[in-house]
Amino acid sequence: MKLAILSRNAKLYSTQRLVDAARTRGHTVRVLDPLRCYMRIGSGAFEMHYKGRALTGFDAVLPRIGASITSYGTAVLRQFEMMRAYTPNNADAIQRARDKLHCQQLLAAQGIGLPDTVFGDSPDDTQDLLGMLGEPPHVIKLTEGSQGTGVILAERQSSSRSVIEALRGLYANFIVQEFIGEAKGADLRCFVVGSRVIAAMRRQAKAGEFRSNLHRGGTAKAVKLTESEVDAAVRAAKVMGLHVAGVDLLRSKRGPLVLEVNSSPGLEGIEAATGVDVAGAIVDYIDQHVGKPKRRNR
Ligand SMILES: Nc1ncnc2c1ncn2[C@@H]1O[C@H](COP(=O)(O)OP(=O)(O)OP(=O)(O)O)[C@@H](O)[C@H]1O
Ligand SMILES: [Mg+2]
Repeated sequence: MKLAILSRNAKLYSTQRLVDAARTRGHTVRVLDPLRCYMRIGSGAFEMHYKGRALTGFDAVLPRIGASITSYGTAVLRQFEMMRAYTPNNADAIQRARDKLHCQQLLAAQGIGLPDTVFGDSPDDTQDLLGMLGEPPHVIKLTEGSQGTGVILAERQSSSRSVIEALRGLYANFIVQEFIGEAKGADLRCFVVGSRVIAAMRRQAKAGEFRSNLHRGGTAKAVKLTESEVDAAVRAAKVMGLHVAGVDLLRSKRGPLVLEVNSSPGLEGIEAATGVDVAGAIVDYIDQHVGKPKRRNR
């Protein structure tokens, strides 16, 4: 097949691994910077150019679109979809997953476990909002945060209130969640391809820290998931309409709880921790689904 990988940086570990996996399997592959793709939309006619030349004949496209370019990146991806390229994650699914509140609402509607979450706009409602959540500790999360920055643990009602007041003063967007103490500073990254978890790792926070992010000093190891964890991860990806996804779970007393569904999960950490050829699995999955119009895009 002829595969395009949409990625801002061809030198990234994940991008390189995907390119290698595709070449090893005899596919033609090109890395395209989505911000250098430009398009013409005419009635029933879709065209795309890249650095002065037309892009044609791609069977499939694998989006690796960072959060900061979601809007333009998904427009480019959609243009490829219009040009009949197969993608495991379509533009709608990526946009859905990027909106964390929307994501939580969709997962909750399907009965998938989540940490209870509240959010509101007016400072006048803070007291009742926290009342809806229940007793502290609470976890307050900036909606734009990543890699653990902007995730705050508030152990008392008064700290929750003052953090919320401070964030409102800065016009920051945030959600407030129940704290899942029994997860003991660990979360599970489940790498979903199609309807399978192909690799899973457990990330453990360093001592004295509740955030398990590797960027916050956490460590990762391969983990064997329970059946209900596999089920939660696969269902979460499916609800979001993603065929390649990183689903983060917390182990709680009431079963697995979904923290996040990532539409461009990194390969480096998971391949290092588990030894699984994740890049190969993704390329094989795409290859199996190319040119099957009924199964295209969900
Ligand atoms: N409700 C919670 N209860 C207990 N621990 C939590 C909770 N929410 C988050 N954590 C811990 O904090 C870490 C960071 O939180 P989270 O993954 O939500 O934010 P992030 O990594 O900054 O953002 P994102 O994963 O969306 O890029 C999680 O990996 C988990 O270890
Ligand atoms: Mg996270």
